[in-house]
Amino acid sequence: MIDESRVGAFLPPGVGADVALAEVRRLRAGDRPTHGGRLFAYVYDPAVPGLDDLAAAAYRESAHVNGLDPTAFPSLLAMENALVGAAGRVLGGGPGTTAPDVVGSVTSGGTESLILAVKAARDAHPEITAPRIVVPASAHAAFAKAAHYLRVALDVVPVSVDTLRPDPAAMAAAIRPETVLVACSAPSYAHGVVDPVAEIAAVAAAAGVRCHVDACFGGWTLPYLRRLGEPVPAFDFTVPGVTSISVDLHKYAYAPKGVSVLLHRDAAGRAPQYFAYADWPGYTMINPVIASTRSGGPIAAAYATLRHLGDAGYLRLAAVTRDAVAGLADAVRAVDGLRLMAEPESTVVCFTATEDGPDLFVLVDELTARGWHTQPQLSYAGLPASVHLTVTASVAPRVAEFGPDLAAAVAAAHAAGPVRLPAELASLVGALTPEALTPEVVVGLAAGLGLGGGADTGAAGPLPDRMALVNTLLDAAPPALRERLLVEFVGLLQRPTWGSDD
Ligand SMILES: Cc1ncc(COP(=O)(O)O)c(C=O)c1O
Repeated sequence: MIDESRVGAFLPPGVGADVALAEVRRLRAGDRPTHGGRLFAYVYDPAVPGLDDLAAAAYRESAHVNGLDPTAFPSLLAMENALVGAAGRVLGGGPGTTAPDVVGSVTSGGTESLILAVKAARDAHPEITAPRIVVPASAHAAFAKAAHYLRVALDVVPVSVDTLRPDPAAMAAAIRPETVLVACSAPSYAHGVVDPVAEIAAVAAAAGVRCHVDACFGGWTLPYLRRLGEPVPAFDFTVPGVTSISVDLHKYAYAPKGVSVLLHRDAAGRAPQYFAYADWPGYTMINPVIASTRSGGPIAAAYATLRHLGDAGYLRLAAVTRDAVAGLADAVRAVDGLRLMAEPESTVVCFTATEDGPDLFVLVDELTARGWHTQPQLSYAGLPASVHLTVTASVAPRVAEFGPDLAAAVAAAHAAGPVRLPAELASLVGALTPEALTPEVVVGLAAGLGLGGGADTGAAGPLPDRMALVNTLLDAAPPALRERLLVEFVGLLQRPTWGSDD
């Protein structure tokens, strides 16, 4: 017998499976809606009946399989190879193409794919002691994360405020003897525009430097849009000089989260991506990706999703999404006070306010109040604040409802007027430097903004119902202060719950 009074209890007593699941469901009820076409970020919903159940069943089959050792679990190796082969074919590689030797790896997401592209480029040049990468300002933040993690310097090339693209000549000028990688996007996440990939790859090749195309977001849709007749420029392995491409299957391949593919033009390009270690008494470690133990669940779910949807499925979903994008863009054009940041050329609709337009952050709150969850983007380097809509196939049946709600939200935002930061917050943020941010200042700011929940905010969750004040404050701060503030605010939210005696 175990004497519980002596050993104590770390955890509450176990509950029935139904109770545990009910708890998960209760917690989930407070989330943004992952399905139904009203959330324009974070989720990719094709609205294909039965697809979620199929993916969940495949996930369950392989959840406990460990990708650590492909010889122990050949099922996973076979599925990974099939996913890489599929991605290679979608992106212009494989037998009978100009890039027949494409190889790749399955990673956990776009960020991991980009970190590994940078690692492979860095480790291909051990003789370069202070490596650097060149990226457009519109490149995904994951490149900055890669540079930070891998101690690689980041050379950022501005994008034109008109085209939202970098000038290839400026990219060329940024290449130095220590540059190991030049990157571009197809398309960029923020505005959904495709960079001049052919020109950028050409300047990289001329300098003898690798060129990575970040197609994490659009790599699965752009090729299908091209087949539907859209004017999609070449951005894949058909472009000379492109050495690696990333594409996220958990975005427009509509797989559940946790799967991206990093492709290299050939095995030599991929080789420095691996990490192998035999200098310890345990098993010899050989990892193509960052994680060592990896669940087979996401990979099996992605495999089943791809097999089920097939080529015709993705073509149809791209067509449905294209029509939804066109409808949403029309809705934006029809409202006075808004303008598109760029004519849509992928699956993003991004708009900003004209000079006499509404306060965008108030508009975002008004849209939320009407059940439309959009993503505000802060002003940056001459680019105005904007509203981002990631459009997926599930949005199509909703498009007709969006226009009237957008018009009503704009009218309401006009009526409410712009957010004004309370004087003490405005002067604080004006004077504040990241270094001067003490825990007391952070707590005071968070309370002033209604962050962190609690009775005084009136909000059900950790965030206030209206975010315009928070966004206005962040927008007024330079990037380094934004970063510090967000780290501190999220730190306030990430606190352990200790059970009954919280
Ligand atoms: C262009 C691009 N690259 C990289 C990423 C990072 O992907 P993840 O969030 O899967 O790490 C994203 C995510 O939206 C993206 O749009």
